Formats: sequence, structure tokens, C-alpha cells
Amino acid sequence: MAEEELRTSPVLPPEDRPEWRYLKPIPRSLASHRHPIIVGHRGARGLAPENTLAAFRVAADLGIDGVEFDVQRTTDGELVVFHDDNLDRTTNGHGPIYEKTLAEVQALDAGSAFDPAFAGERIPTLRETLDTLKSTNLLLFIELKDPWRFPGMEAEVVALIRELGLVERTQIRSFYHAALHLVCHIAPEIALSELWWDRLPGDDEVIYKTVNAFFPLCTPDAIAQIHARGQEITAWTVNELDDARALVAAGIDGLTTDYPDRLLTLFAP
Ligand code: G3P
Ligand code: CA
Repeated sequence: MAEEELRTSPVLPPEDRPEWRYLKPIPRSLASHRHPIIVGHRGARGLAPENTLAAFRVAADLGIDGVEFDVQRTTDGELVVFHDDNLDRTTNGHGPIYEKTLAEVQALDAGSAFDPAFAGERIPTLRETLDTLKSTNLLLFIELKDPWRFPGMEAEVVALIRELGLVERTQIRSFYHAALHLVCHIAPEIALSELWWDRLPGDDEVIYKTVNAFFPLCTPDAIAQIHARGQEITAWTVNELDDARALVAAGIDGLTTDYPDRLLTLFAP
């Protein structure tokens, strides 16, 4: 599939869609029986520098169900965990991360911009991240960021997940649903979630088992409709307790949040 097509096509034509009814649901939490599950956004970006090992450790210590993080690739081919195109907001580097080598990226301070107490925190590789998470009981929600820019990243991510024995704890997410389709063909055993930011998919558009949507889209009616057709629905990024309460009451299946400590207060220990 052409890069341009991957980038601009939000959904696949019906004849190319997998049988989503048979795809895997959200992995079962190893940490709790909570419904919904609580997922730390970019680790726990309200509490520690986003997408760093420090943030993943904070999330693990809180006892939440999982962490979400973003994957891109350096110019010399290493998968790294990072959200923005550019290094400027969260590190002392400048310019697009995908134009840097791994050595250049890992020489940067990815902690001080959040808080000087985290000075020296680095941008982790995907392998370092998975190695760290393997020893916790967190689920892994891996977002393929701009996969049209990184041809082959789907197969590389799958290979690492399989090598480290993390298939049962992982869900792969993307706004680029054609990339999910590639993952589905390479690794049908891995759970998938389609991201939606401006609207929810109609009955004739559904592809994957889990919809992960910008939280204002997740009205009680929308959640009920998605459940009625056999899908699951999770919401991002839910930071206010009133929003979380309303979503929980409506039956949402997962909440991704910058402040997992805050959302945990809604649930009995
Ligand atoms: O899980 C979805 C959410 O992470 C998407 O937004 O911009 O934080 O990657 P963003
Ligand atoms: Ca993300």
C-alpha cells in the first residue's frame, strides 16, 4: 500500500476488512478486576516525564492496569518510544526525532523539561521499554505513531512483542487503521484497537474489536451502540473525575489518563 494511502485512508474498504468479531478483545488485567481498566497515558504523563522508563515505573507502582505509549523510529532504524514529531517540547534537543540517530536521541535529557528532579531521563528504545515492562504486571497499549513514515514498523514491533513473550499483555493501537490491518495479517494473535478523534465509526465501518476514542465522543448512547454490536470502547485522555465518573456510569471499558492516581480514587482499594 502506498504511503499516501496509508496516511490518508482512515478505514479500509469492506472487502479488505478482517472479521473483527473474531479478533482479540482488550487483554485481561493482571493487576485488578476493575471495570473499566485504568491505563496511564504515555506512562503517567501528569506524574513523570512522558514516555520514559521513570513514567512506566510510576505507573507500575500505582497498581494500575496498563500503560499507553507511542512508537516511532530513528533514522538509523531503532524503534523508540516518543510522542511528538519534534524533540523540542520534552527534551533539550531540536527538530524531528525521525531525522536523528539513536545515539543522538539517547544523548538527550528527556526528564528536565518535566521536572529537574528527573534530569538525565532518556528517550527509551522500544526494546528497553518492553524489557522494563516485562517485569511488571502492566498491560501494554502500544500506539504506532505515523506508521506511513516508518515502512515496516508494524512487523518490527510485532517481532519484538513475540520475542519478549508479551503477546498476551499487548494491544496495538493507531489512528492509521491500514497499519492495524497489516499487523492483523502479520500477527492475528495480537489485540488491536482503532483510534478515533473526530467521530465514532458507524455500523458499516467497524473493523477491530476495540474502539479507542477521544472521550467527549463517548456518550452513553454511543457506548451502548458500540457494545450492542459486540465491540469494546475505551476513552482518552480522561483527567477530570467528573468526566471519569460519567464514563464509568455509562459502561466504558477503559480509561486512558495522565493522572492514574486521581482516577484510582474512584475505585475501592
Ligand atoms: O491512546 C490514544 C491517545 O494516546 C492518542 O493521543 O496524541 O496522546 O497519542 P496522543
Ligand atoms: Ca498516544
